[in-house]
Amino acid sequence: MTRKVHIKSYGCQMNVYDSSRMAGLLAEIGYRLAETPDEADLVILNTCHIREKASEKVYSDIGRLRALKEKGKAAGRDMTIAVAGCVAQAEGEEIIRRAPVVELVFGPQTYHRLPELLESVAKAKKSNRPAAIVDTEFPVEEKFNHLAKKAPAPGPSAFLTIQEGCDKFCTFCVVPYTRGGEFSRTIEEIALEARGLAARGAREITLLGQNVNAFHGLDKDRNELGLGGLIRRLAGIKGLARIRYTTSHPRDMEDDLIAAHGEIEALMPHLHLPVQSGSDRILKTMNRGHSAGDYLKLVEKIRKSRPDIALSSDFIVGFPGEREEDFEKTLELVREINYAQAYSFKYSPRPGTPAANAPGQIPEAVKADRLAALQQILNAQKQAFNQASVGKKMTVLFERHGKHKGQIVGRNPYMQAVHVVTEDAKNCLGSLKEVEILAAGPNSLKGKLTLPARAQSAA
Ligand code: 5AD
Ligand code: SF4
Repeated sequence: MTRKVHIKSYGCQMNVYDSSRMAGLLAEIGYRLAETPDEADLVILNTCHIREKASEKVYSDIGRLRALKEKGKAAGRDMTIAVAGCVAQAEGEEIIRRAPVVELVFGPQTYHRLPELLESVAKAKKSNRPAAIVDTEFPVEEKFNHLAKKAPAPGPSAFLTIQEGCDKFCTFCVVPYTRGGEFSRTIEEIALEARGLAARGAREITLLGQNVNAFHGLDKDRNELGLGGLIRRLAGIKGLARIRYTTSHPRDMEDDLIAAHGEIEALMPHLHLPVQSGSDRILKTMNRGHSAGDYLKLVEKIRKSRPDIALSSDFIVGFPGEREEDFEKTLELVREINYAQAYSFKYSPRPGTPAANAPGQIPEAVKADRLAALQQILNAQKQAFNQASVGKKMTVLFERHGKHKGQIVGRNPYMQAVHVVTEDAKNCLGSLKEVEILAAGPNSLKGKLTLPARAQSAA
């Protein structure tokens, strides 16, 4: 009998990648994917612990699943609820204590053991023992070796994890605790996976890592390569038209990577480079290891290499000790840089991180005011960036159908979503086409094909 699994991903793209790997692994032992949890035999919540809201959402979802499980029980079905990802890693046993309906908890580094873990759960259930199993070890290398060949079919734009974990210990962040220290996969393994993705139809690959530009490895001749070197290698892969990477730390933006932005056509002109704050005092207590001036100089260098690069960032407002003048410095930096888009958050104390117990915690109302003021500027910059695209011609990698009839959606080189209405969706999906931008909205652009899809070579 085929069983069904529903996997829900929270948070970052790394979790999306991990979820697709879990799906691949489970397919091998007979599980089919279920779009909703309603009829699933197994539900996996692949969780995020980065901010409090993200972790609390998991518990409210478990509450809903408990009701569904009860309903299924009445109809003679048994649903297993598993919690994976960073909340699992951070809270472990605590999850079972708080939500006893959960029968399996496993961290981001142990999901390759899923088939065995599920077997243990099943055995325990059969013998009427409590079936709560917690596996939160850190065998990263073992995981990647195990998973290399198990990816499900990719879409036109695929993720590829090249690096995991972080040793930077920013004082607000749980990542070094939930994902462990920095670990880079080997160049050989990455190239193999990238070639496999391209051979199966991926035209774009986003290289993933919590600290992706800390990637380092040895090539065949035992030369040490950084991310720039890796990208130069991958750019030669047949069928691969676009390369992106995320997320980068300003401290690891090496000259060779910056140069690659000006030299490698496949490397897209978009960079997510979180700065978090524009105040040197706050950057110091955040343990970021760079000043606002360092960041500005870095951006100048990057723009020299690739003048049209679209910049994106993360910001935290209301970090402990943040005074009004510190926040003003953040606004100054934003005005100076002019971002294409950005993410901004109220500081959320995470248990076990140094800043959670630091003096000078900021009241919620002040955080909310600062967030609104920052977002107003960031939104205006995003609008202006979107508006500046109107009238331009650019390539779009079409990835999926849109909500409206005949509409297809893709991304341009700058990561902006582009919507096009065409009668020829079939010839566009999965390939790059040239589009003229006709209009800009707050979150996406509208355009038309410059030539009918068939008249454009399937780039
Ligand atoms: N509170 C608020 N935002 C946070 N981030 C990380 N930890 C916290 C926290 N404790 C934000 C940072 C990071 C992004 C992924 O999430 O801006 O770059
Ligand atoms: Fe967290 Fe800082 Fe590491 Fe980014 S660099 S994952 S914010 S500790």
